[in-house]
Amino acid sequence: MKILKIAVIAGDGVGPEVISEGIKVLNKVASIDSTFQFDFTYFPWGCEFYSKHGKMMDDDGIEQLKEFDAIYLGAVGFPGVPDHISLWDLLLKIRKSFDQYVNIRPVTLLKGAKTALSDVKRENINMLFIRENSEGEYSGAGDWLFKGQDHEVVLQNSVFSRKGTERIIRYAFETAKREGRSLTSISKGNALNYSMVFWDQVFEEVSAEYPEVKTASYLVDAAAMLMIKDPKRFEVVVTSNLFGDILTDLGAAIAGGIGLAAGANINPERDYPSMFEPIHGSAPDIAGQGIANPLATIWSASQMLDFFGYEAYGKLVLEAIEQLLVDGQVLTPDMNGTASTSEVADKIIEIIESTVQSNSLKV
Ligand code: NAD
Ligand code: IPM
Ligand code: MN
Repeated sequence: MKILKIAVIAGDGVGPEVISEGIKVLNKVASIDSTFQFDFTYFPWGCEFYSKHGKMMDDDGIEQLKEFDAIYLGAVGFPGVPDHISLWDLLLKIRKSFDQYVNIRPVTLLKGAKTALSDVKRENINMLFIRENSEGEYSGAGDWLFKGQDHEVVLQNSVFSRKGTERIIRYAFETAKREGRSLTSISKGNALNYSMVFWDQVFEEVSAEYPEVKTASYLVDAAAMLMIKDPKRFEVVVTSNLFGDILTDLGAAIAGGIGLAAGANINPERDYPSMFEPIHGSAPDIAGQGIANPLATIWSASQMLDFFGYEAYGKLVLEAIEQLLVDGQVLTPDMNGTASTSEVADKIIEIIESTVQSNSLKV
């Protein structure tokens, strides 16, 4: 039997509430198949850990995580610890240390999910965001000069390396080619006269290697407008770290809400563990109430199953989410329901059970 070793970093706020439900679903899936099991190891890292130990994770935390097949993360950041410390010392540290340079964020309106847009056909909201996840505006480089003085100056540097830019754009072309879909690049070459001019140039260069992939290129401001006005233009999308961050929260509203938006941080070479997480944060405003929507975290579990090559199970989980949305009976308050976090996950498990019983799933 194959044992998949998963590091669990439930983190802060609603993180632990949603991640425990995701684990229930993963265990359910593993119980269907006698060839593999999950072995979860829990790491208590996050803002509470920080308040006790003055650090977000163990000093050798990255070393400890190296041996795992994947990381399953809830959310990081909570009032009381400055966000730039909590995020840079845990979430962003993991993305960077493990070179998880591809951030895959589906913006697909599942059946039964409600978009914030009006007058749009469901099938016209089917985007796949591929966000650069290792450098760009998140290089972490900068300086704070003359602190507190009249001539104080703060620098926040973007870094776009040839290697980093090419590999994410090539990954996006490969994805678009495989899926037979178009690829849109979103940048901002009119104002960002180094970084985004370079990005556009690399996009053109790599594009020449993929004549079969239809391409488009938009400035980020116009793209934000068009995602609302005409989302069907966007199929596979590649963009920089910060633009991808912002546009995928917009995408979440377009595709059913932040409680449903999932993300996978992938190291395609598999030199290091990849990490699966909802794209939302710790939601301090609803933490501790047991009402956070676990569907984003469960969708990211589906991405994890795909990543391990169990696509049939990934699909099983995603279709269970879809069926739950279509039934519309067991939803958390953010989706206008009255169910609790665990009731939603229990319902997902029930749907999985009945699907497996009724059509003897083939993997
Ligand atoms: P947030 O995503 O935590 O919350 C924004 C809004 O969405 C809130 O109203 C919240 O209640 C709601 N929401 C989020 N997740 C939900 C869920 N599962 N179910 C129902 N409603 C949900 O964003 P924020 O308030 O800007 O950030 C809070 C903290 O989380 C900050 O410290 C921030 O830095 C951090 N953060 C972490 C991650 C991460 O760990 N990946 C992502 C985003 C923000
Ligand atoms: C996300 C989050 C993170 C990001 C923050 C918490 C650093 O917003 O995963 O979308 O900006 O990447
Ligand atoms: Mn974000």
